[in-house]
Amino acid sequence: MGRLALTGGTPIVSKPLDSTWPVHDERDERALLAVLQSGAWTRTRSQGAESWVWRFEDAFAAFQDARHGVAVATGSSGMELVLKAVGVEPGDEVIIPAATWITVATAVITVGAAPVFVDIDPGAYNLDARKVAAAITPKTRAIFCVHNGGMPADMDALRALADRHGVALVGDCAHAHGSQWRGRGVGAIEDAGVFSFQGSKVLPLGEGGMVLTESEEIQARLFGYHHVNGIVGRPKPERSLPATNLRMTEWVGALGLVGLERLPDQIATREANARYLRQGLAEIPGVDSLVWDSRVTRWSFYIWHWRFVQSEFENIQRDTFLAALKAEGVPTSTGQTAPLYKHAALTEMDCGRTNFPFNARVYGRMLDYAGNTCPETERIAATEALAFSHTLFLGPRQDMDQILDAVRKIRENVAELHAWEQAHADGSPA
Ligand SMILES: Cc1ncc(COP(=O)(O)O)c(C=O)c1O
Repeated sequence: MGRLALTGGTPIVSKPLDSTWPVHDERDERALLAVLQSGAWTRTRSQGAESWVWRFEDAFAAFQDARHGVAVATGSSGMELVLKAVGVEPGDEVIIPAATWITVATAVITVGAAPVFVDIDPGAYNLDARKVAAAITPKTRAIFCVHNGGMPADMDALRALADRHGVALVGDCAHAHGSQWRGRGVGAIEDAGVFSFQGSKVLPLGEGGMVLTESEEIQARLFGYHHVNGIVGRPKPERSLPATNLRMTEWVGALGLVGLERLPDQIATREANARYLRQGLAEIPGVDSLVWDSRVTRWSFYIWHWRFVQSEFENIQRDTFLAALKAEGVPTSTGQTAPLYKHAALTEMDCGRTNFPFNARVYGRMLDYAGNTCPETERIAATEALAFSHTLFLGPRQDMDQILDAVRKIRENVAELHAWEQAHADGSPA
């Protein structure tokens, strides 16, 4: 029996670190009861400022420094709307990061366009702007950046590129409620930015999403697409659009307004704990944090990515370290870093009889991701990435100390870990 929990020792963490999520209190109960008793459960029944969704749109847009908000049923449907609203059509290419959530790619495919995967940068795990420049073609219609984990992508470089090439810049802000670039909320910097309020996110409303934009024209198109003929009192497109129903319910709008009251304190707690953890990790050889660009003036996060540096950790495999950390009682994952183009949903996608858009002539080529390679993404996913959930950062400072103690303990017992790794080199179970 060794010292490490992985080899039979006592784990550092004796009671679970993860806080309960989502949280609620009597304010949520009051808000839900008010919706119930009003009988106006859909926003089409309660117009204007009487509507919870309407007020939530205004409040959330203001929170992110944006002029307009359009609430939708889910983040993923918001991404499809955004692509349509900025004019992405079949035959267009949309640049997306190689490492992100699968519905970023499927949103592009759903509107009939082709996702073009671009490598992530090793500092922030976001779209690498230098590689984006090389991927732009005459067919590129939009750059869809993702603020991975909540860390803002390089807005200066991506904005400049988008403007230079006359393409749209849209943002996936599903992880980044509250994150700021040069003092301005993400979502307000892009032509449009999409948030998710799915139940595990930092503003958890069960399901839901919101698109932010500075442009009244894009806002009008979003309202048009998400509800046939738009919403009374909100801007409407000049001509009718092939629209659908992706409205947010009043229940979700009510929970959103209440959740927004709690969000700033939660962000501050997470941020303070993350700074402390960052400092502690900096003193332990073989692990590191992401680069915190000084232009990221607020780093709110859903996933806190960090780095395992194999060459400085006596050549232990990242997955061995991950297993050791989990055994010590610290819930850890590899976050959203896996190369998306290898995802079975893409390589084996059933697009029906016509297989559109994979074999569409509009691209001038077959869409086939089998030969795709994004070397940094593959290296990061296989050997480096580590991640903590945002819920880990809502507890007391002692929780951060326990995480640091666990990492230190593993580091100090690296010889034991080596022996374990060798004994399990053939894949035999622990
Ligand atoms: C990066 C990213 N974008 C978009 C989404 C989709 O959001 P939703 O679940 O609200 O559809 C998610 C969901 O986890 C995500 O992680």
